[in-house]
This record gives sequence, C-alpha cells and structure tokens, in this order.
Amino acid sequence: MRHASVHPRTLGYLGRALSLEYSAVQQYMTQAALAEAWGLREAADRLRHETVEEMQHADRIVKRMLGLGVAPNASQLRPAGVARDLVSLLLQDAALEAEIVALYEEAMLFCRRIADHENAEFFNGLLQDELAHAGAIQTWLADLGVQPQAPEERAYF
Ligand SMILES: [Fe+2]
Ligand SMILES: [Fe+2]
Repeated sequence: MRHASVHPRTLGYLGRALSLEYSAVQQYMTQAALAEAWGLREAADRLRHETVEEMQHADRIVKRMLGLGVAPNASQLRPAGVARDLVSLLLQDAALEAEIVALYEEAMLFCRRIADHENAEFFNGLLQDELAHAGAIQTWLADLGVQPQAPEERAYF
C-alpha cells in the first residue's frame, strides 16, 4: 500500500534516517551510562537528554512512514561510539551529528528539486534540530577546551 506520489528515493532517505536516529539513540544512551559510571552526573544527564531527543526524531520518522503507507525499516544500526574519556565521546557524537545533518540536507534538497514540498519541510524540521545538536556538541567541546570546527558555509536553494 505504498503512497503513489512518494518518490522511492524519498522512502530511501526515510529508511536511512531511521537507521541513523536509532543509532544515535543507542550511542547517546550508551555514553550516558558510561558518563554515569565515571561519576560525571551532569554529562550523563545531558547525554540522556540527547537520547530522548533522538528517540523523538525516530518517532517522527516512524509516523511519517506509516502515514505514507510503508513499514518502518531501519536496517543498519551502528555500533555505539565508545571511548575512555568525555572529549573522545563527544568527538564521536560530533561526527555522527555531522553525518545526520548531511543526510537531511541531501534529503531536503532532493525533495525540493522534485517539488515534494511536504517532505522537504519534514526533512528541514529534522535538519534544524540536528544543526542545533551539532552546535551544542561543538559548544560543549569548546567548554572542555577543544577547538570547535569551523562551521561549513551552507546555502539552501
Ligand atoms: Fe536526531
Ligand atoms: Fe542529533
């Protein structure tokens, strides 16, 4: 019962997005547990908060896929990024967030190109959240004395 007007590539982006969001849930959940084990309660709380936000993203994608008449099909759960210190964990988070940002940018631009405005807006909403996540991770790293990466120039048209 696939929605006739949805491009197969859009469905592909949704499936990849769901895989990455579940991977982010697993990663932040694991890192929160690690931080807690290290006695870093504040860091654990922040990472747990991220876990919840990524779960909410997965929930949005599941609902969108159901609305389009397709079964949620995340198929590639990544191993959680683990390390021996907080900075190393956050660097892995920065990499994962950058990957998710790149996926949502590509998905949004594709949907715009084929004039699928509804899905373009859906991906843009997720993109804005992930840009905020990526920025928050960079700020956190800067607070820990790690030089933030220069933000990329972004233009959407
Ligand atoms: Fe997310
Ligand atoms: Fe995120």
